Amino acid sequence: MEEQEVEVGVGPWVGPWPENPRYDAELLSHGDRRNVVDRYRYWRREAIVADLDARRHGFHVAVENWSHDFNIGSVVRTANAMNAKGVHIVGRRRWNRRGAMVTDRYQHEHHHVDAAALAEWAAVEGLVLVGVDNLPGSVPLETYDLPRACVLVFGQEGPGLSEAMRAECAAVLSIAQFGSTRSINAGAAAAIAMHAWVRRHVFAQQP
Ligand SMILES: C[S@@+](CC[C@H](N)C(=O)[O-])C[C@H]1O[C@@H](n2cnc3c(N)ncnc32)[C@H](O)[C@@H]1O
Repeated sequence: MEEQEVEVGVGPWVGPWPENPRYDAELLSHGDRRNVVDRYRYWRREAIVADLDARRHGFHVAVENWSHDFNIGSVVRTANAMNAKGVHIVGRRRWNRRGAMVTDRYQHEHHHVDAAALAEWAAVEGLVLVGVDNLPGSVPLETYDLPRACVLVFGQEGPGLSEAMRAECAAVLSIAQFGSTRSINAGAAAAIAMHAWVRRHVFAQQP
């Protein structure tokens, strides 16, 4: 059987022209094939960002970027899905955006030259830096009470979190593993950690 290409989204607007100022005339005329949830069909990008801003969660994510790790895109994509307040790139400014699938356009991106600069920024904002890595001395994510106002910090393929970053973190959390590999991919680890925050602060009964 031949594979059919499935077109996502919606075609040109049908019916009386809508007045909604959130709508984009170009998208209304030509259709909206972007990878956005149905709620945002035909919306201008700025209108989507403003709507996300009104209900962003209390956590940020940070990734160390010393070697253009391709996993950063995946971290950013999940940060969008979990509606993180901000994305922080520590180290090189340029990062491999391919895995982000343009979700970075709906995110607030901050850059910091090094771990100390991120820590300084976080202190001013009242945010705790929480590292995520399976290094000696790390504590289990599964039983750690994640703070509401925090920055979840991820390392890179190979080295993991830098010494300098570990020194700035209030805690470093490990994700339980049961197989033979030393670690999971940073994008997968980030998704687990962000979801742990969501379970704790969006779904759990607050004391
Ligand atoms: C592939 S790991 C590299 C380093 C890892 N410490 C090692 O010993 O191989 C890259 C990043 O993914 C995340 N990561 C991977 N596995 C993890 C785990 N089991 N627990 C927490 N973080 C993990 C961390 O953020 C880490 O810095």
